[in-house]
Amino acid sequence: MKLDVAAVRACYPALADGYAYLDGAAGTQVPAAVIEAMSEAQARGLGNAGGAFPASKRADEITADSRAAVAALTGGDPGGVIFGPSMTALTYRLAATLAKDWAPGDEVVVSRLDHDANVRPWVQAADRSGATLRWADVDPETGELPAGQYGELITDRTRLVAVTAASNVIGTRPDVPAITAIARAAGALSYVDGVHATPHVPVDVRALGADFYATSAYKWSGPHIGIVVADPALLDGLRPDKLVPSSDDVPERFELGTLPFASLAGVTAAVQHLAALAAPPDGSSDASLRDRVLESMTAVQQHEQELFEVLLAGLDSMQQVRTYGRAVSRTATAYFTVDGYSPQQVAEHMASRKINVWHGHNYAWELTGVLGIREAGSAVRAGLVHYNDGADVDRLLTAVAELA
Ligand SMILES: Cc1ncc(COP(=O)(O)O)c(C=O)c1O
Repeated sequence: MKLDVAAVRACYPALADGYAYLDGAAGTQVPAAVIEAMSEAQARGLGNAGGAFPASKRADEITADSRAAVAALTGGDPGGVIFGPSMTALTYRLAATLAKDWAPGDEVVVSRLDHDANVRPWVQAADRSGATLRWADVDPETGELPAGQYGELITDRTRLVAVTAASNVIGTRPDVPAITAIARAAGALSYVDGVHATPHVPVDVRALGADFYATSAYKWSGPHIGIVVADPALLDGLRPDKLVPSSDDVPERFELGTLPFASLAGVTAAVQHLAALAAPPDGSSDASLRDRVLESMTAVQQHEQELFEVLLAGLDSMQQVRTYGRAVSRTATAYFTVDGYSPQQVAEHMASRKINVWHGHNYAWELTGVLGIREAGSAVRAGLVHYNDGADVDRLLTAVAELA
């Protein structure tokens, strides 16, 4: 099923402001259905969790629904869906928990492709526990993270392998199933950063082989909330720091303090919105939420890749423009520089043309170092998501051509 982009765009009030929103990789806009779900949750009356009265029961219901929705989006188990303030905060929490029994001689593998949120928490946890850190390297020419190197990097002392499902700047999608298979065979756990991948491709945490899969709802039309999906049986064996009276159940054990219930209502609405993207317009589908999500995300991927071909071809046709990343499998995320202009100047020019793009390292700290561009301000990122259309791409190319 093909995406009806005009219909999709009409779901997003913010898109009516005349800007081309090519900043989705830093956070998408939210559809009216998500805004309404969040405000309705509060308007109906919302109590804290676990009480005897209806407003509290509604909070419990919203929480259970949102765990089920995330499970449908990722192919995980609702009982292993952990919510937190952000992916970064949750990753620090998981790193601190897992590192409790790391010791000198243990090993941890991180990659130079990753957003720093899936690097630094592990680097610092390894440092504190005396574990040895190993780095997986990126080919600076192609932007690939070759899976073959993990055969050497992972040993029987490896405790954890952290790797991204997609680079948030050059879009590279490493062969995560191959990497996690090597980790598993060596008895190591894998922590897969799915923050950038989740809005662009169908996700199946089991097929990825991810012991932990992290994502952030604000990258896929939802509110600002971080999520980690894991097998409840794995979580059951972990003891995060927590308050004495707070729930010791899984996944609640990992959730510090009170959850943002209105945002959780938004998470469910966001997944339902994604699931409806490729659904028949009359809403007649009786497929499961999971199946509808998979169908939608397949259509989203196709739509984005078609636009991306035009975007990349346009950028590559301009002599003064240099694009970064040539991975065989990648999300529709362009990262480029324009001769004679700093990335910031390019972004400011785009803003003057009502085009939202990001400039800088975007926290791809190690990667921008490998690419040798960090000191000079890194590059400009134009990321496509499901609500972008050909007009957005044309506008960007026209505005870049004004500089090139
Ligand atoms: C690939 C990737 N990982 C992690 C993060 C951090 O997510 P959060 O803002 O939820 O901490 C981001 C945010 O941009 C990202 O793009």
